[in-house]
Amino acid sequence: MTFSPSLDFHPFIRSRRSVRRFLPDPVPRAVIERVLETGTYAPSAHNRQPWRFAVLTTSAAKTHLADAMGADFRRDLLADGLSLAEIETQITRSHARICEAPVVILLCLTLADMDTYPDEKRQRAEYLMATQSVALAGGTILLAAHAEGLGGVWVCAPLFAPDTVRGALSLPPDWEPQGMLLMGYPAVVPEARVRKAVEEVTFFVNSPLTPHPSTTLEKNNANS
Ligand SMILES: Cc1cc2nc3c(=O)[nH]c(=O)nc-3n(C[C@H](O)[C@H](O)[C@H](O)COP(=O)(O)O)c2cc1C
Repeated sequence: MTFSPSLDFHPFIRSRRSVRRFLPDPVPRAVIERVLETGTYAPSAHNRQPWRFAVLTTSAAKTHLADAMGADFRRDLLADGLSLAEIETQITRSHARICEAPVVILLCLTLADMDTYPDEKRQRAEYLMATQSVALAGGTILLAAHAEGLGGVWVCAPLFAPDTVRGALSLPPDWEPQGMLLMGYPAVVPEARVRKAVEEVTFFVNSPLTPHPSTTLEKNNANS
């Protein structure tokens, strides 16, 4: 298969939004599977594909997960010293977000096929590579969903309660929940969020080597 470079791709990518409100319409299983399959075309470290997906579409499964995560969330918010009323508001909102999304995809990481090292430094790098690979799959899934006319949002909550999520869904012990994608046909598509200017986040390293402006600034400040 050959493709010619397409400028249409840029507006497509830029038109994706994090969608947080969905129509109640169910998403056909074939669409979910196509989106996930495209997600698996993300690049991954050593092509080990350390992503795993748990998909919830029934209200029984979503409620079970939301209840379990809510108990953890309540404990964290109590420890933060929030008022009981504020805690209940936040828990209710988070519970509704999970249960009202037609599709919930738990993005998990497994180290089963990754390399292992005896030293902490390389082991940490390997773990980060697996994490980066899972994140790329998550981003690709969001784009594939967008191509299907679906909306989605990445929700980080499972990262704060991995054991609870694994236990609630009876996931294999090596599946580490990293995040959750809420997905469905959009009820509300938000405005684009502001992006930092490319010049603000980019440093073209020219030759002869010029230091990054901030390092010159730091040097000047140190000398003054
Ligand atoms: C790792 C990660 C975690 C996120 N966690 C949440 C979250 O917990 N709740 C939420 O509403 N949005 C979450 N988001 C979505 C971001 O808020 C969103 O991508 C950002 O505001 C830019 O908006 P856009 O995706 O519409 O361009 C997360 C995104 C990423 C990549």
